[in-house]
Parts: sequence; C-alpha cells; structure tokens
Amino acid sequence: MSDLSTTYLGLRLEHPIMPGAGPFVDDMGVVRRLEDSGAAAIVLRSLFEEQITREEVGTLHHMQVHGDSFAEALSYFPEHSRFRFGPDEYLEMVSRVHLAVGVPVIASLNGTTRGGWLRYAKQIEEAGAHALELNVYDVEADPEVGAAEIEDNIIGMLVDVKKALKIPVAVKLSSFFTSVAHLARRLDEVGVDGLVLFNRFYQPDIDVEELEVKHSLKLSSSTELLPRLRWMAALSGRVRCSLAVTGGVHTPIDVVKSGMCGAHAVQTVSALLQHGPEHLRTLVDGFRQWMVEHEYASYEQMRGNMSLDRCPDPHAYERANYVKTLLNWRGEL
Ligand SMILES: Cc1cc2nc3c(=O)[nH]c(=O)nc-3n(C[C@H](O)[C@H](O)[C@H](O)COP(=O)(O)O)c2cc1C
Repeated sequence: MSDLSTTYLGLRLEHPIMPGAGPFVDDMGVVRRLEDSGAAAIVLRSLFEEQITREEVGTLHHMQVHGDSFAEALSYFPEHSRFRFGPDEYLEMVSRVHLAVGVPVIASLNGTTRGGWLRYAKQIEEAGAHALELNVYDVEADPEVGAAEIEDNIIGMLVDVKKALKIPVAVKLSSFFTSVAHLARRLDEVGVDGLVLFNRFYQPDIDVEELEVKHSLKLSSSTELLPRLRWMAALSGRVRCSLAVTGGVHTPIDVVKSGMCGAHAVQTVSALLQHGPEHLRTLVDGFRQWMVEHEYASYEQMRGNMSLDRCPDPHAYERANYVKTLLNWRGEL
C-alpha cells in the first residue's frame, strides 16, 4: 500500500484528487456521487462579484436611484434570472454541501475589485466552508492600467479577505502575468494559504459572416496540463503555501505528473463533465495503482521530485530547452 495522503490549505486529505470549481454542486445527487467516488474535498462553483453587485444594484433599481452608468454596466452581464444563484442561495448551498458530505468543502469567490462584495467571504465562512478559493480572473484591456497596478489590486483583495477570515484562503490565478513567480512570492509573503494554477481563459471566437462574437466553452484536454506543470515545478519548494493544479487533468498519469511537479492537490472539471462524476474513482484508483507499481511509499515521497529545484535537468524547463527544441526540429517539409 502507498500512503496517498496530503495536506492542502492546512486540510489533511486522503489523497490529492478533487473536483474543481464547476457546476457539479447544483445537484446534491452529483455531490454525493462525487463523494462516493472518493473526492478528497469538494470545491464549489463561484459566487461572482457581479452576482453580488448586481443584486445590490437591483435593490437600487427598486429605489429608483440608479443612473446611466449602472444601466451600461448591467448590460454586460446575464439577466439576473440567468445567474443560477444569488448570494443568499449561494450561502444556502455552502451549508447544504457542508452538512451533506464528510470531506472538506472549499467555497469560491470570483471577482476583480477590492470592494464591499468581499464581505461575503465572512458569510461563506460562517455558512460552513472549510476554505475559500479567491478567483481573480480578469481580462484587463485598458492600456492605462499597468502590471504593477493589477498585481497590487490582487494583493489588496487577498489582504482584505485574509483579515476577515479564520479559514484558509487560496488564490486561483491565470498564467498571464509578466512574472508569475514574483506574484506568487508576493502573495505568499502576505499570507496566502494556497495557489491554484491556472484559470482557463474562455476565448471568444468571431463569426465572419454575421460579424458577431461567438461565446463558446470548450472543455480542456491533457495538453493544457503542460503550462501548469512548468509553473508548478518552478514554484514548488520556493513558496511556503500549498499548490494545486487546475486545468488539463484527465488521467491518472496527469495526477502523477502534477504531483511530481509539486502539487499538494489536483483539481479536475472537464474530465468529470465528459465522463461523469464516477470518473473521479477511475482517477483515484488509477493513481493509487501507479504509486504501488512504482513502489512509492507515500505521495509526500514522490511530490516535487520533478520540480525545478530537484529534477535532474532543470534547464529543460527554461529557455535552453526552447532553443534546443526549435533548433532540433526535424520534420518533412
Ligand atoms: C462549466 C464550467 C463551470 C465552471 N465554473 C467555475 C466557477 O464557478 N469558478 C471557477 O473558479 N472556475 C470555474 N470553472 C473552471 C474550472 O474550475 C477549471 O479551473 C477549468 O475548467 C480548468 O480545469 P479542467 O481542465 O479540469 O476543466 C468552470 C469550468 C467549467 C467547464
């Protein structure tokens, strides 16, 4: 037997594999199937800043004090009824899941500004969440806004949330920063409990006949794991906080790779949407079997053995490998 246990965000888990933030928690039957399939923890879908501010703006509507700027802002977001949850329903969901499962529940707040909406972090804690993921997904297209300002804002959001909460807080980041490692270290220094790497950007396409922007959500494949592995390997052992992979985890070998690069936890969403909640059992069993076959006594023994600091060829993660790869390309022309 191999001891697969891990500690993520200070939470002792039986193994590193869990469903990531997604639509699973809309159905308590699915939540139970995930737990029955061995989920080490349950990550809830996000409560979005827009859901909170929209509800507040909605209240203002009733009081007839809104101006044009509100109307413009409102037009960017789905109609209220199309948001599945308002803040109250979200808090109810947190306590419902908390009461229903025996594994840790990680809630998620998703937004971009330091503002009153962040007070929901405290309410999420009070509703029973064991930890909080703060997703700072943003697409900053304003040329007046520089990198330092964006990063300071993220740090400020974390500091505000950490001040209010006793439960651990992870930040879910995208990879689109000039220096991911520097931002990770800054977050680490102000007390982040974990980093979740990386948000997937949902890329809009265009319809050239209708001259419309097309919104589509394509599920991931294992190839999307590769940038996560690189940054996991670069950060492992260099930050104090926990590290989790999200993006491109579809097979037991994807879990092994994530662990070797240093992940304390591994989240999966697309694979579960494609194959059903029971795919989690396939991942856990396959991962356990691989660990036994390769005679690892524990996950901790294996974790990080391919990190930048510990792998036999650290240059393979860096520019040297890029140059070598391009120069060595041999293919038919
Ligand atoms: C349908 C769907 C809903 C999602 N909802 C959320 C969400 O509410 N909050 C969040 O942080 N990420 C959300 N995500 C992103 C996932 O948590 C995950 O980071 C991303 O899908 C990459 O992982 P994967 O390759 O395993 O799918 C969602 C993804 C999908 C496909």
